[in-house]
Amino acid sequence: MKTEIRNGAKKTEKEIEKLLKKMTLEEKIAMIHGAALFRSGGVPRLDIPGLSTSDGPMGVRAEFMDDRWIPAGNNDDAVSYLPSNSALASTWNPYRAYEMGKVLGAEARGRGKDVILAPGINIKRSPLCGRNFEYMSEDPKLTESIAVPFIKGIQENDVAACVKHFAANVQETDRLMVDEEIDDRTLYELYFPAFKAAVQKAGAYSVMGAYNKVNGYHCCENKALLDWVLRGEWGFDGAVISDWGGVHKTKEAAECSVDLEMSVFPDFDQYKLAAPLKAAIENGEIAEEAVDAKVRNLLRLMFRLKMIGKQKGERKTGAYNTPDHRQMILRTAEESMILLKNEKQLLPLDRKKIKKLVVIGQNAAKIHSDGGGSAEIKALYEICPLMGLKCSLGGGAQVAYYKGYHVPEKRKTFDHNWQADSLNSLDDLKGTDIGQLTRNDDTISEDHRRDAEERLAQAERDKAEIHEKNKALFAQAVEAAKDADAVIFVGGLNHDIDSEGFDRADMKLPYEQDALIEELLKVRKDLIVTLIGGSPVEMPWKDKAQAILWSYYAGMETGTAFAGIVFGDINPSGRLAETFPKVYEDCVTAKNGQFGKWGSIRLEEGLYCGYRYFDREHIAPAFCFGHGLSYTQFSYSGLTIRAEKTKEVKLTFTIRNTGKRIGAEVAQVYVAPIAPKADRPDKELKTYAKVELAPGKSRKVSLTLHEESFAYFDPDLHAFTADAGDYEILVGASAEDIRLRGVVTLP
Ligand code: BGC
Repeated sequence: MKTEIRNGAKKTEKEIEKLLKKMTLEEKIAMIHGAALFRSGGVPRLDIPGLSTSDGPMGVRAEFMDDRWIPAGNNDDAVSYLPSNSALASTWNPYRAYEMGKVLGAEARGRGKDVILAPGINIKRSPLCGRNFEYMSEDPKLTESIAVPFIKGIQENDVAACVKHFAANVQETDRLMVDEEIDDRTLYELYFPAFKAAVQKAGAYSVMGAYNKVNGYHCCENKALLDWVLRGEWGFDGAVISDWGGVHKTKEAAECSVDLEMSVFPDFDQYKLAAPLKAAIENGEIAEEAVDAKVRNLLRLMFRLKMIGKQKGERKTGAYNTPDHRQMILRTAEESMILLKNEKQLLPLDRKKIKKLVVIGQNAAKIHSDGGGSAEIKALYEICPLMGLKCSLGGGAQVAYYKGYHVPEKRKTFDHNWQADSLNSLDDLKGTDIGQLTRNDDTISEDHRRDAEERLAQAERDKAEIHEKNKALFAQAVEAAKDADAVIFVGGLNHDIDSEGFDRADMKLPYEQDALIEELLKVRKDLIVTLIGGSPVEMPWKDKAQAILWSYYAGMETGTAFAGIVFGDINPSGRLAETFPKVYEDCVTAKNGQFGKWGSIRLEEGLYCGYRYFDREHIAPAFCFGHGLSYTQFSYSGLTIRAEKTKEVKLTFTIRNTGKRIGAEVAQVYVAPIAPKADRPDKELKTYAKVELAPGKSRKVSLTLHEESFAYFDPDLHAFTADAGDYEILVGASAEDIRLRGVVTLP
């Protein structure tokens, strides 16, 4: 089998060379830049099509016009809306990730796409990053475990995943120009591993170069990142696609490993890798070999996707909006929601006892699929929590809904598209035909900053409006709450806040929701607080609330899954893939101030963000990494640890469902070096298992730790090393709830 694959690869390389020889410089150049906003150029003479790409992680984005940032307005491009990457990671279930990948890949193929611009696998460094909802976790191991099956699922459909954004795309402020200073150890241990696994373990066909700079160079012109690490060390032979507008300089981009320049402007011939490159080659400044290298990578991608070559007729065709896609999406949504707190077993509610249910809060009735930036989609449908509750309760009960708080109209700063806006100042755009615009790198940060200031000023103006309107809304909601069998608050964030293009100003709930929750708790101790959002929020009322349920943007079946959990048809099994701090001030990015700045940031905390930081500083978060409750309970026992000669460590332990309902536990294994030679985080997640058990049943779990589970990156050796010595193995239900401990000695 292996020889067959090698032979196949050799044949493909020969085919690539043959095609390349036949191509003129113009034809090659046509292939390496956008010919439409989401399509690259092809070579019709040689039957080489352009690559058709589409966002994004939560489903296949609606069709855009070729040369305007305006949706085409078709009625045939609504799709299944998948749980966001943050929701997916909260399932801690690689199988669900594989299924979601299959759904996304099939839908992308069904819509005729070659490359789907997903998944987003950047590490969540600060809870304020606007795009955190598109990313998976603060932990590289958990990210890898979800990303790898997701990518495999996509690519089984003969569609390329485009893993984004390489690398360290950790903030939206000044996103096109910000320079991030990051040391090697931090890159290799925190920001690289998921990308390395995407390439080596999942075989990702394409990678998107990020907008930001890393250590002085834009990611799409960064030889260290693209040539030395991605291709050199990891052996990536797929295509690197620039983020839209991520290429700035012709020579730099031509001579480093970015293969396809995409952008948000319709002046396709003026892209850096278009006419300017052709001129530079013709006058001898740049060697044509630079273009050949890119074309090879793109042709290889096309062979893999069966777009060209002998296998062309065998390419899968995909399908979108199938009933089984919706079923899989529902299962994932159910597994993604996290029960943060449940005193007095307030949840689940007994349907039979509910004659009058009061639901309060705008997220009960809100549709989220159409927002957030490039991850927005045109969903076939989206069941909001209120609809889910009503569908599930039926006509025997009265459901009364109150908005509770005021959300100002979304301020549409400019009509055509936020994405192009983010590359130009709004003032520049007003009244202009975007077709005439190009970007000015010298003024871009300033333009962007003015937009940010305007956004903040608008938010200030909104505050007065919110406060005024909330008076009546609060009073109505509080009054209604007094007279009901149960009261559910559904609040949180939305994509006016969790969005591409800007970061959050703080970690607080918007629209005075905290004040409303406090008032509701005064009249209803048994208030069920549920929140939907894409990133952690402060919960100053957390000790008073008895039940708190958290959901990320969970896809088209959010409401169905939500009702299933509220009424106990579904036993929650989601776990936090990121730390929920008590207040933003507790986070390392608040302390070191190296987040959300313009121009440059230094990631001076190194490895210490997320739980690694909270551990080191002994700061108690509101809810820790890995936390999540169930309607049943689990016990852990009998940890055995056996070090093998192969430097593998085999673990076994038993989990038992000691409660009364079927449910799933996520057993997490952390490794904690005892007296390490190098500076090491107190503990790090290395593996985990999700186990579903019927009441009274138990299962023996076997897991393996590999040498890499004990290793750290030594920048002097430029290699990972696992020092000999003792390591504590911690097995637990969360980063804080450690149930079993043992020690292994590494020779
Ligand atoms: C985003 C990418 C997206 C691309 C195409 C960019 O602004 O950063 O994530 O895939 O646009 O829409």
